[in-house]
Amino acid sequence: MRHATITGVGSTLPPRLVPNTWFESFLDTSDGWIRDRTGIESRHFAEEDVVTSDLAVAACGSALDVARVTPDRVDLILCASVTGDTPFPATAIWVQRKLGVSCPSFDVNAACAGFSYGLATATAFVKAGMADTVLLVGAEVFSRILDFTDRGTCVLFGDGAGATVVQAAEAAGIEGTVLGADGTAAEILMMPGGGSREPASVETVAAGRHNIQMPNGREVFKRAVTEMAAACRELLEKSGYTPDDVDVLIPHQANARIMKAVGERLGIGDDRAVIDVAEVGNTSAASIPIALDRAWRAGRIGEGDLVLFTSFGAGLTWGATLVRWTMPGPA
Ligand code: ACO
Repeated sequence: MRHATITGVGSTLPPRLVPNTWFESFLDTSDGWIRDRTGIESRHFAEEDVVTSDLAVAACGSALDVARVTPDRVDLILCASVTGDTPFPATAIWVQRKLGVSCPSFDVNAACAGFSYGLATATAFVKAGMADTVLLVGAEVFSRILDFTDRGTCVLFGDGAGATVVQAAEAAGIEGTVLGADGTAAEILMMPGGGSREPASVETVAAGRHNIQMPNGREVFKRAVTEMAAACRELLEKSGYTPDDVDVLIPHQANARIMKAVGERLGIGDDRAVIDVAEVGNTSAASIPIALDRAWRAGRIGEGDLVLFTSFGAGLTWGATLVRWTMPGPA
């Protein structure tokens, strides 16, 4: 049987580091509030001339180097993002052009769960024999859609990109996936303007309809904990594992309190969880591959480890993926 495994990881964060104290100069907020409620201490924002595909290409380059794969061997590029270069063509197309290759390329839009949905898609392509090598990148320049007058959202997000190379393998690496979605709650997290429902106009711009809107952060918090924990439990059960078998849990890096609550529900302590939100903030679809790359480079993930990813985002959407890690440590 044909399997899929991760053979390369890479990530990038733009150099400009923005500490919580930066927001204190123009918003009624404080470093203490942001740290206590979210665990975030800083985030990286891209400079004005940097676009999402620039970050994506940098992360892809690192992941390809690790996998020892040249761009011309990539059969498919998938980009998970809600802050792409352009509404169309897909950001994956801009990535493809910058990499100088000509393979099929498309975007996956599942917001902060984009990496889970992208990894499921990459796995399916590889297992079906439709691709041998897939380049999957989560990339966001979230700072471009933040409303810097809304203290409930603008302090949460950062920019960055994380990439993985997914390749055909004889033994299972990516062992299983659970995905979920609930469109009945779509309005609790969205960017309402710019589509056919509210095309861009002077009025939509003035009303901030092209920024992220999260009218009920508490409800998002609760749903995130519930759905990520449930998806992990379902996946572990159907794969014949228990939480004790998990060596490393990498949740979507939304908020340290959300991640801790998911770990508590599963019985997976901080010693086995990657919580990397302090310096990076919430980078949406990029958050898991960034955390994965940084954890792997720090030696926290070793060959043979059972790694559990879980994510939650707008839609609502969520997912969990179990990976038997087949890569050796960094050279
Ligand atoms: N600084 C100071 N005060 C603030 C700030 C801020 N940055 N933001 C909100 N507050 C205030 C609110 O206005 C409110 O004031 P009030 O009581 O006078 O009305 C008070 O703090 C409490 O607000 P809550 O929303 O109840 O605070 P909570 O403890 O729930 O924390 C937070 C808010 C951090 C947004 C939390 O709900 C959360 O993390 N939710 C998940 C949201 C999330 O992660 N979204 C990202 C996209 S989805 C995802 O990635 C999973």
